[in-house]
Amino acid sequence: MKHTNQSGGGAPCHVAIIMDGNGRWAQRRLMPRAEGHRRGVQSVRRVIEAAAKKGIRYLTLFAFSSENWKRPAEEVNALMRLFATALKKEAQAMLEHGVRLRVAGDLSAFSEEIRESIRQSEAITAHCDAMVLTVCANYGGRWDIVQAFRNILLRDPSVALHPERITEELVDANLAFDWAPAVDLMIRTGGEQRISNFILWQAAYAELFASPTLWPDFGQADLEEALNWYAGRQRRFGMTGEQVQALGHGE
Ligand code: IPE
Ligand code: IPE
Ligand code: MG
Repeated sequence: MKHTNQSGGGAPCHVAIIMDGNGRWAQRRLMPRAEGHRRGVQSVRRVIEAAAKKGIRYLTLFAFSSENWKRPAEEVNALMRLFATALKKEAQAMLEHGVRLRVAGDLSAFSEEIRESIRQSEAITAHCDAMVLTVCANYGGRWDIVQAFRNILLRDPSVALHPERITEELVDANLAFDWAPAVDLMIRTGGEQRISNFILWQAAYAELFASPTLWPDFGQADLEEALNWYAGRQRRFGMTGEQVQALGHGE
């Protein structure tokens, strides 16, 4: 997997965010959980703008996990409606900001209406190159690795007879979003410190930042806090701190 920041510091090229805490935000206000999700969409808009301003080239957002189908049907339906509306409403704003939208996940589970909105939003922003926004929907890190191996075999069944041809590069190239480099910084909002089956392979060397802020309250200042924290990290990729310093990029 291509790492963009070989030894850290500076600005991350690829930021991935687990947008968590919508439900708690609403419950604290005695509102239905769906209201938290609705407010969460406003944070998405704010954070896309803030990230683009900061020059982040790849922003990846965890919108709905393969496990989130386990939630009450009413909540799942509310999330689907929000997703469909946001896709239609936000595509134009993304176009104006030069943001290319891509969606990663098992899209076969979504309604035809949602799949059509995804196709349209991806198509109208296909030429945008300021930032690539990947929305992970019905996405799971384990699903991604399994579908990568299935793809490898489907594309070239002879690999089964030559397993030595399976390399990290080949797996990379078959992941659900082969367009993005490795994750530099993974942020989880809402205070939990777990990955919850988000991008596993691509985040193998990501720096992890847990923000206590609930996603509907998350904004530019919170993003800046995470970026400042990241700038102070020394990324070692298995080496010693001294080796990294000798390379001339360390702290
Ligand atoms: C994240 O917020 C949004 C999704 C998982 C879709 P949650 O709904 O998980 O919020 P909490 O964790 O219950 O507060
Ligand atoms: C992860 O949050 C999924 C998304 C943010 C879309 P969850 O709220 O589903 O994670 P768990 O269940 O608390 O681990
Ligand atoms: Mg949660």
